[in-house]
Formats: sequence, C-alpha cells, structure tokens
Amino acid sequence: MIVIVDFGSQTTHLISRRVRDLGVDCIIALPKDSISKIRKYHPKGIILSGGPASVYGKKSLLVDKKIFDLGVPVLGVCYGLEVIGQVLGGKVSSGEKKEYGATEFIIENKSRLFDDWRDKKNRFKVWMSHFDQVVKLPEGMKRIGSTQAVRYAAFSNERKKIFALMFHPEVYHTEYGREILRNFVFKICGEMREFGDDLVSRINDYIDKTVGSEEVVCALSGGIDSAVAAFMVHRIIGDKLKCFYVDSGLMREGETEEVKRNLVNKLKLPMKVIDGKREFLRALKGVIDPEKKRKIIGKLFIDIFEREAKKTGAKILVQGTIYPDVIESQGTKHSHKIKSHHNVGGIPKKHGFKLVEPLRELYKDEVRSLASDLGFPKDLISRHIFPGPGYAVRIVGEVTDRKVSILRKADKIVVEEFKKFGVYDKVWMGFAIFAGIKTTGVVGDERKYGETIAIRAVESVDAMTAEWSRLPYELLARISSRITTEVADVVRVVYDVTTKPPATMEWE
Ligand code: XMP
Repeated sequence: MIVIVDFGSQTTHLISRRVRDLGVDCIIALPKDSISKIRKYHPKGIILSGGPASVYGKKSLLVDKKIFDLGVPVLGVCYGLEVIGQVLGGKVSSGEKKEYGATEFIIENKSRLFDDWRDKKNRFKVWMSHFDQVVKLPEGMKRIGSTQAVRYAAFSNERKKIFALMFHPEVYHTEYGREILRNFVFKICGEMREFGDDLVSRINDYIDKTVGSEEVVCALSGGIDSAVAAFMVHRIIGDKLKCFYVDSGLMREGETEEVKRNLVNKLKLPMKVIDGKREFLRALKGVIDPEKKRKIIGKLFIDIFEREAKKTGAKILVQGTIYPDVIESQGTKHSHKIKSHHNVGGIPKKHGFKLVEPLRELYKDEVRSLASDLGFPKDLISRHIFPGPGYAVRIVGEVTDRKVSILRKADKIVVEEFKKFGVYDKVWMGFAIFAGIKTTGVVGDERKYGETIAIRAVESVDAMTAEWSRLPYELLARISSRITTEVADVVRVVYDVTTKPPATMEWE
C-alpha cells in the first residue's frame, strides 16, 4: 500500500482518493507516527501531503528524517515538498509571490515522474496553493521543473527515489496530475493494481453494523447526498426509517414540491414535511456573521428533528455527509477549519442521536455515480447542489424575508437562462447571490439606490477546487437584463470571477 502522511491539507483525502482510483490501497498516517509504525504498513511508497503551516515555524510539523532511509520512494506535495527541502538540509523561506490557483509549470529536466511524456506538453497548467518555497535545494537534489514565481517547483533525487512537487497533482484542474501520480505509484513504487472497489457492498456493511435493527430517522435536504444515504438505509431496514424534510423557507422556488415528487413519489422514501419557515427567519433575525448563521441553522434543524424524532423513539440519525463537508469542518487532525457545514460542524456536539454517515468517505462525483447505479431520476442527479443552510449563505448580511424573496426571484432567472442556453449541465453550480451592497442606478428617469445581485458559476469535480465558468457574454447579458427588469429593487448585476481557492463557492 501507499502511506500518505497528512500535514493537514484540504486535499489529503483527494490524494488518497486518486490513489484508490488507481486501484491501489492506501492509508493516512500522521507526521508524529513513529518510523516503526510506518514500517509496519509495509508501504511501497510514501506521499507527504500539503498542509496549511510553515515548515520553519515554532510549531512546524515535520517528519523523522529516517523516513527517507526506509528504502521506500517518497513523494512530497506542496507543504510535503517544503518538508523534504527543510528536513534534508535545504532552505525554505517565504516566497515573494504567493501563488493560489492555476499557473504554468515548465519541465526543466528529465524525471521518472514524467515518464511516457511523448504526447504531452512540457509546459502545462497546474494548481498551486502556497506562500513559502524552497530557495536552496538539499544536497543530491536536482531541479526538474519551475514556474514563473518558483524556481524549484519540482525537484528529485532519482537514485534515492525522493520526489517533490510544489503543485497539487491530485487536484482535478492540474493537467497530467493523474499521469504523474500513476508514474509514482506504478513505475516508481512498483505497486500493482489491487482491488476492484465494491462500493455498494462496503456501504451496506457499514449500515448493517451501525444501524442493526433499530429505528432510524433521516434528515432529507432534498439534495442527492441525503437522498442516497436514506435510500440505501431504506433498502436494508424498510419503514423502520422515518425521513423528515424541514422547509426552512430558505429554499429555491418550488423546492418542496419537487422534493416530494422525486423522493416520495419516485424513490418511495417515507418522508414527512415540516414547515419551519417562521422559526428559521425568527432565529436569524439580526445575525450577520456567516459562522453564526450556520450554527443557528444547524441547531434549529436538529431541534426540529429532535422534536419529531421523540415521537418515533429513534436514537439514530442518518446523514448524507460527504467527505468535503467533513474536511472543511476540520475533520482531519491538522487541517484548518474553513466553514461549519450544517450537516457536520453546524450541529451542536450534544444532541440525542448517534450519527450514521454512510457517505462520509465519498466525494460528490462518487455519490452521483452511485445514485445513477441505484437508478435515481436523472433530474435529481443533475440538479445543482444547494447548500444545507440555503439562501442564508447566499445573502451577505442579515437574512430577511424581503432579501430571500429578491434572491429567490433572481436565482430562478439564473437557472432558467442556464437551461435555455444549454449550460446548466455543463457547470457544477450556477446561482445568484444577494451581495448586500447598495449601489446607485437609474430607473426610468429617476435615481434609485438599489440592491446588487452577483452571479456565480463554477466548474468543479469534487467541490474541493473550482474554476469560474467562462459563460457566454450573451447569457450574462440576458440574465442581467432580466434580473434588473423583473426583480424589483435590483439595480446592478455582477459576475464573480474567482477560483476556489482562494474563494469558496458560496459567498458565506
Ligand atoms: P464552498 O462554499 O465550501 O462549497 O466552496 C462547496 C460545496 O459545498 C456546498 N456547501 C454546503 N453544503 N451545507 C451543505 O450541505 C453547507 O453549509 C454548505 N456550504 C457549502 C456548496 O453549495 C458547494 O457545492
């Protein structure tokens, strides 16, 4: 197997996922794990992940130097590169230019990482996220690639089989990332393809073990994750599962009706709708901080569930938590908290349920293909994701009935026009945001101080990184003109052109 040492990167599990996709098993270890513990895994290769810290800080996370003497190939990625630089006697310091997002990488020298490169470019797009860099190579290392801002963007000691990359090969947007990891795993580590992954039976086993024959409740959000989780549990325990859908009033137009049509009529899930519109608005009154909003919404969701669940006697709550929710709510030891997703971090620690999360290890695209294998309706699978806290995280500032109503109308126009222009199925998400900025407009012949609506559309595969979509100007023009004429109070429409990182997809 391959051992991945986790320095707390948001993408550690993406590396593990990519290695698994290659059919090779892997395990995630911690920097403090002893060499003897790592040796016990009999690794064929070791990958040092990225991480949010600095290798030269007081509390910097490093590895025991002996890891490089195990006779096992080592690949350092991003922070992992800096760890190699630091531990083996090079020099790391704060780069003059920070690089986040896409940049061009240039291959400077031969390396086995770039084996079978004949049909590929020697300059290609890679995904970066760093502020430090190696400024002096450790002895025996050779530069194998650079970017405009980073001289040693890749280096190696081919004889000792130590490789270091500043960019993230595991990130979908890195061109040839898969090929580079494949070279490391198969050509350099000599791994063999091991397993055909039977996802469904693994999840069934997990449900059998955690649910047994007990009564279970499930919080259906209307999205695909909770629906797949509930559907799989329902197949095993039948109507011992009771599902609840809380209408928070922060949903898209016609949402509740559509959810009923898909989940109750088509997928036959036992579901009760609870109207929470007033309660949510009341609880959010005067709240501006996004983290507070998430916490309040998470707590209210669970309070309402608890109220209903008491009537069923259930002690277990099934959730459709997927891996990005876990990691972004600080699910691994050294990663930073980005935001509390309502289905993980927003839920208070003390609640009366045992949580069962059958999809906790999966990425969105894996859930989508699972749903398709399970025979889910196509429109449910292809619907854009809608965050648990709904419009509350798309309204900057206090959430009010008026703002929700403006945003709902604008958002509906965005979705309609995306569908008309045939781009709805091509982007990961396209939506409107209530920017919370008042600006001046001229309506008729009068000056009007009105609202700003922002449009965001992104391309992603796994929600961990995203590119902003290059939408046709005609589509943007159409959306802008419709919103400013059809939605009262809106005088300006802007388009968000930021990648993730540094920006997240949702504005709050
Ligand atoms: P961000 O904004 O974190 O979004 O880049 C990544 C994906 O996750 C969705 N998202 C959420 N989903 N509860 C959810 O269930 C949340 O609190 C939440 N916040 C973001 C977001 O819509 C995007 O698809």
